[in-house]
Amino acid sequence: MACKRGALIVMEGVDKAGKTTQCKKLVEALQQSGRPAEMIRFPDRTTTIGQLISAYLEKKSDLEDHTVHLLFSANRWELVPLMKKKLEQGTTLVVDRYAFSGVAFTSAKPGFCLDWCMKPDVGLPKPDIVMFLRLSPAEAALRSQFGEERYETSVFQSAVQQNFEQLIKDPSVNWQAIDASQSVEDVHENITTHSLNTINTSQNLQLGELWK
Ligand code: TMP
Repeated sequence: MACKRGALIVMEGVDKAGKTTQCKKLVEALQQSGRPAEMIRFPDRTTTIGQLISAYLEKKSDLEDHTVHLLFSANRWELVPLMKKKLEQGTTLVVDRYAFSGVAFTSAKPGFCLDWCMKPDVGLPKPDIVMFLRLSPAEAALRSQFGEERYETSVFQSAVQQNFEQLIKDPSVNWQAIDASQSVEDVHENITTHSLNTINTSQNLQLGELWK
């Protein structure tokens, strides 16, 4: 019998919502329960494209806005063969940001619409679930100071949040909103429950194509 595929689990949300902490905790919990799982994060700053993105985010270089949007998308596409291989081998992938961050961030810039921003990511492996860690910009600001990177301002993050709220209305994607204002442990429990259900339901289903 063919091996059951892993699930593609994506974590999204504004900065300070706790995505990275929760991704790590989820991978640990899945591994401890004997389920193969790995974490991936976007942007993947280790590749050649990722290094261009990283320099841009650190404000060491400037890039034209459409160009950087396409680079973020290319950075996802370059990982697709590896992602598909791992999923087919039965490894669940827990992904810290995906195409939804791509769209929510670029469309917060003047002159960009959601529709244009979605186009380069059409056809990417479709997540079996996207958990949106919902945290109001006011609560995010209380958690700690924003860093020095590009986009880390409360005005920009509010615009990003509004774009996420638009994206969540798309019924073609399995969105699950999570109240990220709860304690780390409560959020983790919530996320684990959804993830285990998703792993069970998606293992016999074919991997879909995003926004197609
Ligand atoms: P990080 O802080 O999770 O490493 O993300 C880096 C920044 O890049 C963050 O501000 C969100 C932004 N971003 C985009 O603008 N487009 C994208 O496609 C992705 C994945 C992230």
